[in-house]
Order: sequence, then structure tokens, then C-alpha cells
Amino acid sequence: MKRDPLILAIETSCDETALALLYPPRTLLRHLVFSQLELHRPYGGVVPELASRAHLERLPLLFSELFAGLEITPEDVTHVAVTRGPGLVNTLLVGIGFAQGFAYPKGLPLLGVNHLLGHLLSPDLISPMVFPSLVFLATGGHTALYYLRRSDSIQLIKATVDDAIGEAFDKVAKLLGLPYPGGPSVEKEARGGDGEAILLPLPKPENPRALSLSGLKTAVRREIQSHSALSPAFIADLCASFQRTIGRMIFSALTSAIETHPETKAVYFVGGVARNEAIRGMLKELEREYGIPVVSPPPEFCTDNAAMIARAGWEGFHKGQSDPWDLQPLSRWEVAPSGI
Ligand code: KG4
Ligand code: ZN
Repeated sequence: MKRDPLILAIETSCDETALALLYPPRTLLRHLVFSQLELHRPYGGVVPELASRAHLERLPLLFSELFAGLEITPEDVTHVAVTRGPGLVNTLLVGIGFAQGFAYPKGLPLLGVNHLLGHLLSPDLISPMVFPSLVFLATGGHTALYYLRRSDSIQLIKATVDDAIGEAFDKVAKLLGLPYPGGPSVEKEARGGDGEAILLPLPKPENPRALSLSGLKTAVRREIQSHSALSPAFIADLCASFQRTIGRMIFSALTSAIETHPETKAVYFVGGVARNEAIRGMLKELEREYGIPVVSPPPEFCTDNAAMIARAGWEGFHKGQSDPWDLQPLSRWEVAPSGI
């Protein structure tokens, strides 16, 4: 009897240990994310050796939890998708080893998935994405705008040439002595501030295909240095102004892309930074201006998770693709040719 495909997905590219079970394309049986935030918080960033050990300890526990109380068992899994890159090699290796150990004895197809493709297709977990579309991806390691003619036809429009937006949030938080990770801390402080209070430069590199965050980060540092004491009101205004400037930068990148691609049917904002409600709110203005829906996945699918890896894995599996057993991690792996 032919079984319905059931994908087991594993994500360990950074500091989230995550597993998911998906009947493709979007019936998610369960997905679990164990965040290592507490482990890395004292260091103000991810420590790769600690992260890989924590993935190793946590994966078997999450695996038992994944099937607990479900009617299906590990024997019902038909495909195994695992994040192959980009990410930390030590941590990717743990997930890949786990995937190989599960798939090999059962002779199941194994596919190494691009983590960025997972983020790009994450909105599809909720409802079918419409194409052609523009997808703005902003995470701790990547920031880029893509044009998707279809789910498997991806063109890079713009990308950062220095920091990623999530990284800039994390650095600004550090400068202000706010807790790690910076994104949620800056957003929280910004709620009490005025986004127009401090004038920060809108990053505009000469290369029209480049985004750049370094000038903005320097401007924030100068503002901080020009104050002898950091009052709560100043911190709130600076966070709000920084966040607003980032929102404007994304807005302006999307505006020019919509004008170049007037056939665009939807705009998606994805990745960890897409959890930011203030920026999501600013981008909604595009709906009013251009009549194009602007969509973000729910917060749990913005930050790293395995559900999006399962969904991206289906892109390959449904075409009959799989990888050899000796699959190796890739610390760098573009989802579309760069040339910026
Ligand atoms: O997608 P993600 O979980 O991991 C990567 O693939 O990098 O993104 C993590 C990034 C971190 O830099 C974090 O500070 C940022 O997303 N982030 C936010 C918010 N929540 C998480 N940035 C701005 N506002 C937020 N609310
Ligand atoms: Zn990510």
C-alpha cells in the first residue's frame, strides 16, 4: 500500500534545536523548538562548541517528545529533510548525523535543505504563497530581498554587503547594555520611545543592489558616545529611531522592487526580524499604496524552526530528489546566484 508522504525535518544550523513532522505541503502534525538562549546569554552571542553539545543532548529528547501521544510512529516517516547550511558547521553536523542515523537503516530518502529557502517558503506553511512575489528575508545572519517567479525560481534583488539586520539589532542592544538577543529587547524599549526623536541616516549605498547597515550602526554608536549618561527616555528614543530607520530601509527596498516588478502579487517579510511588530506595521502601508498583500508568517515560523525545513524539503522530494548518505554541511550556501 502506498503511504502518504510524511516528512521528518531537523534544524540545528545555529542555537535552536528543532524537529517537525509534516504531511506536505502544509499539514503540520507537530513541531518543536528548543531555544538555547539561556545557555548563550552570558556570552552575548552563540558559542559554537556549546551549541553543538546542546544539540547533541537535546535532539533525542525532542525526538521522543515529537511522537508522544500521536497516532503515528517513527515507522510512518517516509522522507527525512535536514538543514545542510548555511550555518555553523559544528551544529549542522549534529543535525545531519542525526538525520543520517534515522534515514539510513530505514532506507529513507534524505535531503539536505537550504536554511534560507526554509525561511523564504515559511509563509506557505499557513496558506499557499502566491507568485510572482517579493520576499524580504531578515535574520541574524542574512538580509536580502528576492523575487520569486515560482517557489523554485528565485532571483536575488538586493543583499546586505555588511551586517545582517538581526545582527545590527543585536549590536545596538549590546551598545545600550540591553539583554541578548537584541531584537526583542530593542523592540520592547522602542515601545516607550519616539521614532522621530533622533535623526539617523537612512542607509543608501551607491550600488543599487546593495543594502548596508554599517553607517547606521556607526551613527547609533556616535549618539551613545555623545551622551554621558544613558537615560531611560534616551534609550527608548534611540531604539525607536533605529527601528524606524530599519523599517524605512526595508520599505524603500520593497517600493523600488515593486516598481521594477509591477506584476508582483504579494510581498512576504520573513526571518527572525519579521517578528518585529512595529516594522510589520510600517510595511502594511505598502498594501494601501500598491494594493498588494503584505504577509509575514506567525512569529513561531519567523525565527528558526524545523517546520519550514520540512516545507522546503518537499520542494526537492516532490521532484524525486534526494542526497547521498555522506551528505556534508555547508557553512555558506546561497539560495540564488549573488553577483552583488
Ligand atoms: O531567523 P533567526 O531566528 O535566526 C537566523 O537564521 O539568524 O533570526 C534571529 C535574529 C536575531 O538577530 C534576533 O535579534 C532577531 O532575529 N529578532 C528580532 C526580533 N526577534 C528576533 N529583531 C527585531 N525585532 C524582533 N522582535
Ligand atoms: Zn534562520
